[in-house]
Amino acid sequence: MSLDPAFPDPAGTWNRRFGGEGFVFGTEPNEWLRSHAGVWTPGQRVLSVADGEGRNSVWLAQRGLVVDAFDIAELGVAKARRLAAERGVTVNFAVADCDGYAWQRAAWDGIAAIFVQFADPALRARLFARLIDGLKPGGTLILQGYTPRQLDHRTGGPPLLEHLYTEPMLREAFAALEILELRDYEAELAEGSGHSGWSALIGLVARRR
Ligand SMILES: C[S@@+](CC[C@H](N)C(=O)[O-])C[C@H]1O[C@@H](n2cnc3c(N)ncnc32)[C@H](O)[C@@H]1O
Repeated sequence: MSLDPAFPDPAGTWNRRFGGEGFVFGTEPNEWLRSHAGVWTPGQRVLSVADGEGRNSVWLAQRGLVVDAFDIAELGVAKARRLAAERGVTVNFAVADCDGYAWQRAAWDGIAAIFVQFADPALRARLFARLIDGLKPGGTLILQGYTPRQLDHRTGGPPLLEHLYTEPMLREAFAALEILELRDYEAELAEGSGHSGWSALIGLVARRR
């Protein structure tokens, strides 16, 4: 249950978005994730946070990774389960919100946090602490989000400044990790109808020491 007045009913809101036939963010993995996932090798264990309709978790499983994934929206997770079955892979899915998920400590070789900007600053602090704590030493976080310039583009993401990321914010939030790459950039996104058009993005790759 979100205490953020901007998103009072996240499960209901996202179930309505995911209730249609298509995939809101498509069925191909996010490009920042796809182009950096080589840091993980087959057989390693990874977690896809707020995984939506499964495009990222299922692709990671197709790469031979052992994948856990969760999302607050049961309709999204149901579609993700079907996508995994269609592609003949197994993902350990859970329906959970990010405060209620059965987080583990030092458990994952990798964590993917792709567009998890539903989190207001208080929830974000709790979530980021879980990400850091969940990585094994040597494990790597791959994170993608929008920057405040996205408020001019409006091609996806929450229209709320306090939910967006800047380079200094991510540097400070993940100071406990070794930052391997942190890039503030603009690019064309074609991720279903949900993320479509010229976008102000930020990508992070960071390793637990
Ligand atoms: C922009 S979508 C991104 C989905 C997925 N990561 C992707 O890249 O396709 C945000 C996701 O966050 C989920 N979500 C929203 N609030 C959440 C919460 N409090 N805990 C867990 N998931 C949440 C939504 O259901 C939705 O699937």
